[in-house]
Amino acid sequence: MTTPKILGISGSLRAGSNNTMLLKAAIASYGAAEVEIADLNLPLYDGDLEAKGIPDAVTKLGAQIVAADAIIIASPEYNKGISGVLKNALDWASRVPGDVFRGKPTLLIGAAAGRTGGETAYFMTRNCLSQLGAAVLATPAVLVAGSYAEFNEDGTLKSEQYQESLDKSVVVLRSTSV
Ligand SMILES: Cc1cc2nc3c(=O)[nH]c(=O)nc-3n(C[C@H](O)[C@H](O)[C@H](O)COP(=O)(O)O)c2cc1C
Repeated sequence: MTTPKILGISGSLRAGSNNTMLLKAAIASYGAAEVEIADLNLPLYDGDLEAKGIPDAVTKLGAQIVAADAIIIASPEYNKGISGVLKNALDWASRVPGDVFRGKPTLLIGAAAGRTGGETAYFMTRNCLSQLGAAVLATPAVLVAGSYAEFNEDGTLKSEQYQESLDKSVVVLRSTSV
């Protein structure tokens, strides 16, 4: 059996990101896998830039998506929507030839400071990915609310409940991607 390839995508660029921590917790829960973490530090989508050729960083992201057996996306919530960073990456990915997200088993998770854990952003991410044809898992959403208080210094989750929910979702992802 070949080792599955996982692509992790965090919608937050900041070093101390709760979403990147949650993403890493999900990847750790997945177990044996070849892991890549996408770099969403991309230029802003601009049709004029695209007309000169898809930027190398976007081509790389597209290739990572194509190569992945499964994708995990952790999305923050900004003003009741997804981060501009994540939306920009999805917009660029949709312009890479080959319909890169189509059929990809994709788990959505999120961490946000508010009481819903970024539920509105979660549904917005689902909408965008449904447009791109991704096979978004229908597991109960793991959305870490009040996220600033929910992670240990080493980035692991404090709450056993959140960890158990994450483990359950990751089991479903693993079963669809191997
Ligand atoms: C511009 C901006 C808008 C935000 N809007 C929301 C929001 O609508 N809902 C919410 O729960 N948190 C909101 N927050 C707080 C974020 O959830 C919090 O900063 C979170 O930690 C960001 O994710 P990160 O830790 O992965 O960077 C907002 C933060 C910023 C910077």
